[in-house]
Amino acid sequence: MVLVNGVATDRLAVDDRGLHYGDGLFETLAILDGHAPLWSRHMARLHRGCRALGIATPDTDALHDEAFHLCAGRPRAVLKLLITRGSGRRGYRPPEPAVPTRILMLGDWPAHPPAWHDEGIDVRTCDMRLSRNPVLAGHKHLNRLEQVLARAEWGDEFQEGLMLDIDGWVVEGTMSNLFVVKDGTLLTPPIDQCGVAGIMRGLVMETAQAIGIPCEERNLRREDLDRTEGMFLSNTLIGLWPLRSLDGRPTPRHGCVPVLRSAIHERHGVPQ
Ligand SMILES: Cc1ncc(COP(=O)(O)O)c(C=O)c1O
Repeated sequence: MVLVNGVATDRLAVDDRGLHYGDGLFETLAILDGHAPLWSRHMARLHRGCRALGIATPDTDALHDEAFHLCAGRPRAVLKLLITRGSGRRGYRPPEPAVPTRILMLGDWPAHPPAWHDEGIDVRTCDMRLSRNPVLAGHKHLNRLEQVLARAEWGDEFQEGLMLDIDGWVVEGTMSNLFVVKDGTLLTPPIDQCGVAGIMRGLVMETAQAIGIPCEERNLRREDLDRTEGMFLSNTLIGLWPLRSLDGRPTPRHGCVPVLRSAIHERHGVPQ
């Protein structure tokens, strides 16, 4: 089911700048019993992104009504929400005034093997690197070519790829954020030059602090991941997936993953 500017259709104007330039933002929300437990966090990130790109912020109440009309009665689903700068004439110059396009798409909950959650996943380091741009860093904008090319590097032999930036700093997974346990401290790379500031990353960091697990942002090189007490990836749909191996080398499992999962579940109502 798809709504474009509130109308049930799967058609979009061919001059939409989201299509031409990736000129827009998106959010992917987990739907549970017809509602999105992390709605306000997704809206806050969307609004930050709109401000950064100079796109008029959508009316959150109207978006909420449309979203929950679409999701009503769905026990579990995925809602993808896109805001583009809207239609424009030829050329990069943003139209004045611009009328943003909003697209809401409801999809099925992804059926991942339970072993990925319970036993962990195999991850590779991608050859594709992320470019650094502090203005775009953190935002979930529609320019995702780096992730598309990174994901094209493997088939089914790994479940996720780790991405470094052009200077060799570890950033995140192609669709997830990274946490590493070293000396009992949970470390995650800063998202100030590139990468997406994941909603689940934020929950992990807040929850870790709240339950007494030391957690901090730290710049990490790929070699730093060769000796850790454990690693996991986070994303709103997958929750937390421990790593079982990185580039074919087995990775230890750390007990903080189930502890964090249940604390996040209790505090925020997201599935474990
Ligand atoms: C590149 C990238 N990084 C991180 C994430 C995790 O974000 P979130 O926790 O908001 O799902 C995603 C999610 O799709 C992503 O695409």
